[in-house]
Amino acid sequence: MSAASLLDTDIQAARILVVDDERANLVLMERVLRTAGYTNLVLIQDSREVLERYRDEPTDLILLDIRMPHLNGFDILDQLSGLDDPLISPVLVLSAEYNREAVLRALHAGARDFIGKPFDRAEVLAKVRNMLEVRLAHRLSHNQRLLLEHLVAERTHQLRDTRLQVVHRLGRAAEYRDNETGAHILRMSHTSALLARQLGWEEADVECMLHASPMHDVGKIGIPDHILLKPGKLDAEEWAIMQTHTTIGGDILNGDDSDLLCMAREIALTHHEKWDGSGYPKGLAGEDIPPSGRIVAIADVFDALTSARPYKAPWPLEQALDYLRQGSGQHFEPRIVEVFFDLLPQILEIRARFTETDSPETPIQDD
Ligand SMILES: [Fe+2]
Ligand SMILES: [Fe+2]
Repeated sequence: MSAASLLDTDIQAARILVVDDERANLVLMERVLRTAGYTNLVLIQDSREVLERYRDEPTDLILLDIRMPHLNGFDILDQLSGLDDPLISPVLVLSAEYNREAVLRALHAGARDFIGKPFDRAEVLAKVRNMLEVRLAHRLSHNQRLLLEHLVAERTHQLRDTRLQVVHRLGRAAEYRDNETGAHILRMSHTSALLARQLGWEEADVECMLHASPMHDVGKIGIPDHILLKPGKLDAEEWAIMQTHTTIGGDILNGDDSDLLCMAREIALTHHEKWDGSGYPKGLAGEDIPPSGRIVAIADVFDALTSARPYKAPWPLEQALDYLRQGSGQHFEPRIVEVFFDLLPQILEIRARFTETDSPETPIQDD
């Protein structure tokens, strides 16, 4: 089958609605079109049915009478343009009322072309064919665009997955350097996302928080063992070096403009800032601290306090909650502390869900 005949087949299979209140006109037009090889014809005598039939199946052309009872041709054109269909079918108006005013009115209302009645058979067939050729080409390019958009969405999704894989592994690399466990990372990231959602963040940003917050301590990769793993208290110099895990993290996560890594960098840099300005590395205060950093601060501290570490037993829940209450307005933003207490049941659920026996392999899932 040649390309040309394939195209002919497509054109002849195009769905054509013929709308006319006179039965005789419908029959005549049907005969003309069938003789020319068109097979997919829908004859409509009651113009009130047009919209419904149009919606039934993709339509490629509408042959439309103007003077009809109930809904006239202009009403139908209005209905069609109200559909907001990006692939709206072309309309060829056929009317006995063939004057300049009527033609212009129909064209302005969205008709593609106009033919006077009684019509010239050859003219009708030539116009029908022309309109269908354009129509099918348009439909083809529209479908190709949809296909391309679909492919782009798929690739974007793959890219996002790869990026997530990389950041999770980066977060895990930091865990190897530290006393913090995989379960801590899971709990603090889920808690951070929960707080962000309750604080009114958009869902995409909440998801970003979920995946970005596990990297808050990635900078610990750059802290020497004798400081990072020192069992006792750090002296002033060691403490100063320890604090650089924030800026080292910022450097590691620098240079990518994805939302995810931008937020991860922001969190790495600011999760030890305090609301009253007494934190590090910059001593930022209040709203100068990015919201992500303010949220992670509380989720991270709460989980650290209530977790066992080689050098400390977990704090009892009440004691940890007291710490948060007392830190409101000092270490933590008061509003986030409030939200934290509002969400306490869910936060305790997260705590019970990810226990230390969870392997660090447990992936961070979106809920
Ligand atoms: Fe940290
Ligand atoms: Fe942490």
